[in-house]
Amino acid sequence: MKIPEKMQAVHLNNHGGQFVVRAVLVPRPKQGEVLVKMAAAPINPSDLQRIRSISAEQDLSTFIPGIEGSGMVVAAGKGMLPKLWLGKRVACSAVYPSSGTWAKYMVTSASYCFPIPKAISDEQGSMLLVNPMTAVAFFDIILSDKHKAIVNSAAAGALGTMIRILGNKYNIPVINVVRDERQANMLLADGAQYVLKLSDKAFTGQLHLLTHELKATLALDPISGSHTQQILEALPYGGTVIVYGNLSASDQGPSLRPLLLENKKLHGFYLGNWMKDKGLLKTVRNLIRVRQLLKNDLKITIQNRFPLDKVQLAIDTYLNNMTGGKVLLIPECNETVRYSSTTLSERV
Ligand SMILES: NC(=O)c1ccc[n+]([C@@H]2O[C@H](COP(=O)([O-])OP(=O)(O)OC[C@H]3O[C@@H](n4cnc5c(N)ncnc54)[C@H](OP(=O)(O)O)[C@@H]3O)[C@@H](O)[C@H]2O)c1
Repeated sequence: MKIPEKMQAVHLNNHGGQFVVRAVLVPRPKQGEVLVKMAAAPINPSDLQRIRSISAEQDLSTFIPGIEGSGMVVAAGKGMLPKLWLGKRVACSAVYPSSGTWAKYMVTSASYCFPIPKAISDEQGSMLLVNPMTAVAFFDIILSDKHKAIVNSAAAGALGTMIRILGNKYNIPVINVVRDERQANMLLADGAQYVLKLSDKAFTGQLHLLTHELKATLALDPISGSHTQQILEALPYGGTVIVYGNLSASDQGPSLRPLLLENKKLHGFYLGNWMKDKGLLKTVRNLIRVRQLLKNDLKITIQNRFPLDKVQLAIDTYLNNMTGGKVLLIPECNETVRYSSTTLSERV
């Protein structure tokens, strides 16, 4: 395949976060690396978090956003793994801060790529690494720590939906916490059994009752701030809260009272660390599990697709309605692709 000299890539124009698309040289893979021709890349909360937290010292001329995506390996550096992936469709993750998926091409470590089978589309594959792997990691924890039921906050989002689906699959009752009536109705229509609304004045009392009734000893919390305090208080004696995101963008930590007096635990979770702790073999086994789940069980809704030069519109669309589904950046995007909003499972 002929690789062009230059490509389009999303950059930040300034540290305030204004995006521009620049024509830059297509990077060449070194030892252990591959060049991926990008097919699709989602906008995830972690991408926006990373963009927001860029330090004033960081050189913006080399920074391309985008953590995960999918594409075709079109060139390989030295090494067994790069050669193995050459010509394959892969789900891939960027090496921070030297590469990013919001571009036509990306060089990344071959060990950050995982082949995707025919049954999984490029779009579905582009979201394979972060959320589905996290959902699988959570169920590894839930099952090995023998939790009888769990609390799932921000349950109407992509990862919250996966947690709900896997709860059904593994027979673990899930108490779904959503923002409002609209999201609650959405989940109830989708067959969810336990749904609580943050907007409900009686929320805290309802959560307390339900966690005790179902013996829900684990809560998964991507909201953090005062919400962490609410769920820590509501869990039964000895319960654990895992904070894995900061959707509320709050700096506020919970009070230590439930930890000191009720033997409760507060943990953080970051997928990269979890995978490192589990080791390569277990990570590969989990990736195979994720691929299987994406073929059969998990569904990720896509609300829209945009070309790279519409990145700001893509982000605005996503932030305007995160529950509406993922927004993808597609380098070869045309109008037909862009407006065909579907769920991934329908496209397989
Ligand atoms: N630690 C890790 O390794 C790891 C891995 C994967 C994901 N995550 C985290 O998981 C979280 C969810 O990711 P996702 O891809 O599922 O996101 P998503 O699909 O965009 O869904 C986010 C959901 O959260 C809701 N939400 C946003 N802000 C909220 C707030 N302040 N209070 C209550 N609900 C709120 C949204 O509702 P609206 O539409 O009403 O805004 C939406 O339903 C993110 O924080 C992400 O960073 C962490």
